[in-house]
Amino acid sequence: MKTRAAVLTGYHQPFQVREVELDEPGPNEVLLKVSAAGLCHSDLHMMDGDNVVRFPIVGGHEAAGIVERVGPGVTRVAEGDHVVCSFIPSCGKCRYCSTGRQNLCNMGATILEGSMPDGTFRMHDPELGDIGAFCMLGAFSEYATVSELSCVKVDDWLPLDKAVLVGCGVPTGYGSAVNAGEVKPGDTTVIYGIGGVGINAVQGAVQAGAKNVVCVDPVAFKRDTALEFGATHVFATAEEAAAAVNELTWGEGADQAICVVGVMTEKVVADAFAVIGKGSTVVVTGVANPANLTVHVSGSDLVFNQKTIKGTLFGSSNPQYDIVKMLRMYDAGKLKLDELITARYTLDEINEGYQDLRDGKIIRGIIDYSE
Ligand SMILES: NC(=O)c1ccc[n+]([C@@H]2O[C@H](COP(=O)([O-])OP(=O)(O)OC[C@H]3O[C@@H](n4cnc5c(N)ncnc54)[C@H](O)[C@@H]3O)[C@@H](O)[C@H]2O)c1
Ligand SMILES: [Zn+2]
Ligand SMILES: [Zn+2]
Repeated sequence: MKTRAAVLTGYHQPFQVREVELDEPGPNEVLLKVSAAGLCHSDLHMMDGDNVVRFPIVGGHEAAGIVERVGPGVTRVAEGDHVVCSFIPSCGKCRYCSTGRQNLCNMGATILEGSMPDGTFRMHDPELGDIGAFCMLGAFSEYATVSELSCVKVDDWLPLDKAVLVGCGVPTGYGSAVNAGEVKPGDTTVIYGIGGVGINAVQGAVQAGAKNVVCVDPVAFKRDTALEFGATHVFATAEEAAAAVNELTWGEGADQAICVVGVMTEKVVADAFAVIGKGSTVVVTGVANPANLTVHVSGSDLVFNQKTIKGTLFGSSNPQYDIVKMLRMYDAGKLKLDELITARYTLDEINEGYQDLRDGKIIRGIIDYSE
């Protein structure tokens, strides 16, 4: 069948929206009619060369939709089911899935390559050849053939144009604070970067009971949004935040610092490492070009102050459990999703959407396929 999709053909190129050939679902695969897709910074990394990928590739790794057809052997979902996709598949059987670390599932090895785990592709074009699907999803397409391992069935009364955000940004941010940072009541948490992911680190830290949620972002709109989500202090620079944390903690330092800026830098990690106190943790969630060595700290400070620096993928969550849990929190009014969305775009407006993200105009933008 044919679908319209936003394809990247190389670094520093805009998305090309074009019709491509989409394979019918094979064994354990699902054809999804995509309802909504989220614009996360990780797709911008593909354009900017900070995520090293294979081209051509259809972007989009936050997808929500309705199952149109299933291939042979599919058991996780059925035709008509409402689905939120996880940007990392979970097989349920590998050593990571079977030890409560689905975010590290071995089946996710090809998410940057954009192929299915067996190395084959589901989108093709006579001119471009085989086209990858970012994170095995390729959500910037009206239809997507995805692995059932990427699918999480969700309650069908939930609005898919909000639920889609629980495919990456929400659990990644929330889990960066709650799972990786282990925020506890009374803690002082510093968050660098209040974008689509960082704002959810704010939600997580607030819900976990942090006394001080100190946010750093150079963009005033982002700082204002952080305050709306419960941040207690906001600053344009790390230096101002460091002075405030020193005061707020009687010189003890923060309990955790979450680094979730758009493009990770050595300075952000160094600032975070300096702002935390003894026995405390720096969480690195944001990424940069893999060739950039962004972690440079004093090993002596690390040892004598028993500090920890840890990376986190998908907020160290278990997609099959956490996506459902977070949506039930939303349904119960305990998690904000509607308030995250600043702007909606059609698929044809995707480059505008990413320009707005670059310009700091949006917290979350979504492609709404109903528009
Ligand atoms: N680890 C994971 O599993 C995972 C998942 C999703 C996204 N990410 C990464 O997380 C990062 C954030 O993604 P996003 O979608 O929230 O991006 P975004 O562009 O929406 O937000 C980034 C924010 O960082 C701010 N910023 C930039 N430089 C800063 C600095 N020096 N100090 C403080 N703030 C600064 C920007 O103003 C912006 O508000 C990206 O690197 C993305 O690739 C990681
Ligand atoms: Zn993402
Ligand atoms: Zn697995």
